[in-house]
Amino acid sequence: MNSDDISTHYRRLLAEHGDTPQAVQYSSAQSQERRFEILAGVGDLQQKRIFDFGCGTGQLGQYLQRQGIECEYFGTDIVDEFLALCKNKFPQGNFEKFSYFSGMQFDYIFIGGVFNNKMASNKKLYEDTLRSLFPMCKHGMAFNMMSAYVDYQDSELFYEYPENVFGFIKREITPFVTLRNDYEVKLGVVPFDFTVYAYRSGQ
Ligand SMILES: C[S@@+](CC[C@H](N)C(=O)[O-])C[C@H]1O[C@@H](n2cnc3c(N)ncnc32)[C@H](O)[C@@H]1O
Repeated sequence: MNSDDISTHYRRLLAEHGDTPQAVQYSSAQSQERRFEILAGVGDLQQKRIFDFGCGTGQLGQYLQRQGIECEYFGTDIVDEFLALCKNKFPQGNFEKFSYFSGMQFDYIFIGGVFNNKMASNKKLYEDTLRSLFPMCKHGMAFNMMSAYVDYQDSELFYEYPENVFGFIKREITPFVTLRNDYEVKLGVVPFDFTVYAYRSGQ
């Protein structure tokens, strides 16, 4: 896939499934929320400016609201229809194309599920994306990926060895990094997803 294919893919999912976890390629609300819960562990989000890169249907914002976290929620997505949907759901939020946010800073940046689709060059995509986003965060950035330590791989999805990502962050982004592969997304299923917190300073 290239970025046009990605947009077409998610636009089609949204048209087919509406505002549901399936529109952003999750099997259930439970598995989507479990990922949010882990991502949100990056720090104290109360009263913070949050940037959701690849916000999809904006469910992370709704999740944070339900947790009683009052924050400023900003989002971007490659699919304009997702931005329109989010604007409707969160009139108080700010949902725009990525270029709009150029030069802006946020306390925390979230990147959930954005690297999951198989592309021509997944490694370059995640490295370039993380390199360009990190300078936009004041405290930290949290993102997840599918782990290559699984017994089944879907040919449409991208799986990475967590240690490759850890090494990349250490070498090129920041020395302050947490790698989490200690959680189940689906109860009883071997961890097939990992989350990284990259910080500006020691915690
Ligand atoms: C698996 S979905 C996850 C959506 C949301 N983060 C969540 O966890 O519910 C991945 C999202 O990333 C978006 N996306 C993929 N590549 C992108 C890019 N280069 N820039 C912005 N958004 C992108 C897709 O359109 C899609 O909404």
